[in-house]
Amino acid sequence: MFHVLKIICCFSGRVLSPERDIMGIMATLETTVNGLRFKNPFVIGSGPPGTNANVIRKAFDEGWGGVVAKTISLNASKVINVAPRYARMRSEGSKEVFGWENIELISDRPFETWLEEFDSLKQSHPDEILIASIMEEYTKDCWHEIVERCQAIGVDALELNLSCPHGLPERKMGAAMGENPDIVKEVTGWVMEVATIPVWAKMTPNITHITDPGRSALAVGADGLAAINTILSVMGVDLKTLRPLPTVEGYSVPGGYSCKAIRPIALRMVMQLAQMMKSEFPDRTLSGIGGVETGDDAAQFILLGAHTVQVCTGVMIHGYDMVQEMCSSLLAFMESHGFDSLEDFRGASLPYFSTHADLVERQTQAKAEKKARREGMVEKDAQWSGDEFVEQSDRLVSND
Ligand SMILES: Cc1cc2nc3c(=O)[nH]c(=O)nc-3n(C[C@H](O)[C@H](O)[C@H](O)COP(=O)(O)O)c2cc1C
Repeated sequence: MFHVLKIICCFSGRVLSPERDIMGIMATLETTVNGLRFKNPFVIGSGPPGTNANVIRKAFDEGWGGVVAKTISLNASKVINVAPRYARMRSEGSKEVFGWENIELISDRPFETWLEEFDSLKQSHPDEILIASIMEEYTKDCWHEIVERCQAIGVDALELNLSCPHGLPERKMGAAMGENPDIVKEVTGWVMEVATIPVWAKMTPNITHITDPGRSALAVGADGLAAINTILSVMGVDLKTLRPLPTVEGYSVPGGYSCKAIRPIALRMVMQLAQMMKSEFPDRTLSGIGGVETGDDAAQFILLGAHTVQVCTGVMIHGYDMVQEMCSSLLAFMESHGFDSLEDFRGASLPYFSTHADLVERQTQAKAEKKARREGMVEKDAQWSGDEFVEQSDRLVSND
């Protein structure tokens, strides 16, 4: 019954706990981020699950807290996709998918069509959070135009795709910008000159120090960061044909790796960004992305400082209704710790990262304390002595 109640409450973002409703206390997944009210922190990540108005409507109706639409640009005629464009990595026994490579580009649908769809989505779902993901060439006027036209149509926020690692970098877009902190600063600065709604800069993981581009975007006023986009990869080589995968007319290019396998890398990068933001930009926000499929996965991103959590590949594997189970398991986690809101545990695990030297020192100290406790304790029967018999007995008592 409680489980059913929680699923129902996913739509309102609140849940009543049987133990705690006597006191009238309610745990909630609702959260306000950059002034926007999300009914829960689960946001569709930019990609196929947000690729047109039909699927975005489905996401809202299933209970997602928000949607980042597939990345758009002013001139879609330059975007030409190939097929096949995905390759999957499965575990040998269960055939479970844990790694996913794609060589998909941004949306190939016309910008004007997108504006009409954004408009119709905001009319039919005015309270849902709709975020436009935008990408443009290295030209100030283009960035100004795409920002101004998207915000005029009524989307709630913008995510800057400075991070797609394949195809677009050949046109000096996407990760070609995101891997250069100076260009991140310049382009985000152009956006902030005209933006009137919240802006998140989406980071590429294909860089040594993720805090460098993160700091650049925040320094010129971005309201938040989203991390991570996909990791540049080669899925494998077909041992019969000797051709790399995914193979298009016998050839391939490195693509972006996503799904569960990237989660540890995403968690590490989110942790590093959160630590930097805590000390340098405490009023900005962070959207964690990478291999999220359950409420427990989301809890870990929030414990490391994320305000929202995005899911892309997970939806392609499990479907839109996965959000209901995610809401109920995140609430169960919160209940088990007595957390009433996401704010109660956001960043709570950050203080437990340290240096290797500190770990060594802590371990040396713990061993010394353990030794001191053990000293004088009889461990083998041959150690009993007639002279110290009573003291030795005493030291073996645990509960005086
Ligand atoms: C098929 C596919 C297409 C994607 N297209 C976009 C895109 O258009 N814009 C973007 O910012 N990220 C895109 N991404 C990246 C995802 O939004 C996300 O950052 C990444 O896949 C990691 O999250 P995940 O493990 O939940 O998929 C795409 C990912 C996949 C798998």
